[in-house]
Amino acid sequence: MTQFLPVALEHASRLINHGPTVLVTSAHGERRNVMAAAWSMPVEFTPPRIAVVIDKNTYTRELVAASGRLGICVPGAALVDLTYAVGTTSGRDTDKFDAFGIQSLQGPVLGVPLIEAGCAAWLECRLISEPHTEDAYDTCFAEVVAAAADPRVFADGHWNVDASNVDLHTIHHLGAGKFVRASGMQQAKAIGQ
Ligand SMILES: Cc1cc2nc3c(=O)[nH]c(=O)nc-3n(C[C@H](O)[C@H](O)[C@H](O)COP(=O)(O)O)c2cc1C
Repeated sequence: MTQFLPVALEHASRLINHGPTVLVTSAHGERRNVMAAAWSMPVEFTPPRIAVVIDKNTYTRELVAASGRLGICVPGAALVDLTYAVGTTSGRDTDKFDAFGIQSLQGPVLGVPLIEAGCAAWLECRLISEPHTEDAYDTCFAEVVAAAADPRVFADGHWNVDASNVDLHTIHHLGAGKFVRASGMQQAKAIGQ
């Protein structure tokens, strides 16, 4: 596995700007968990803040609320099956890291479990407490405190999606376990005047 490189916080939004399905990681005390989320997006520039929808009934939500932190890992195409698996099982009774053989490392700032093997990038995030919305909404807001990416697919603040890194192309859920890969990258050129 190629070593991940830090991503400048001002570029962190680019890691999820294009709407990839992500893995939301969490931990509190001895407990840890991971689930799939198709709904996440950047919402603020500086400091970088994101929104991610985490159903109030999930175990992930419980751990995120208790710990005030979460990880957003961006799986590559090689992790389609794993992404679907962690999105269709609950960690309430099983440690999904053990059950699915997922290796994790500790985030540099908050110690959130983060996944690199098979992922294109990760963002370590601090939950923004929103007492007036906490009980009503599934949407969670969080500030990105650290980010890193596999330089084969994201380097110098930009994605590079081509035939050489298919396994790291991000995945986008169409529903019912069907995904498409981000591919066929086109560079827009200046036109007109
Ligand atoms: C591809 C995919 C995308 C999903 N996206 C979301 C999402 O954006 N938000 C959400 O709350 N649940 C989403 N889910 C469902 C959760 O991943 C699922 O409820 C999971 O079992 C929760 O696990 P937990 O109870 O261990 O936290 C998605 C599931 C799949 C398979």
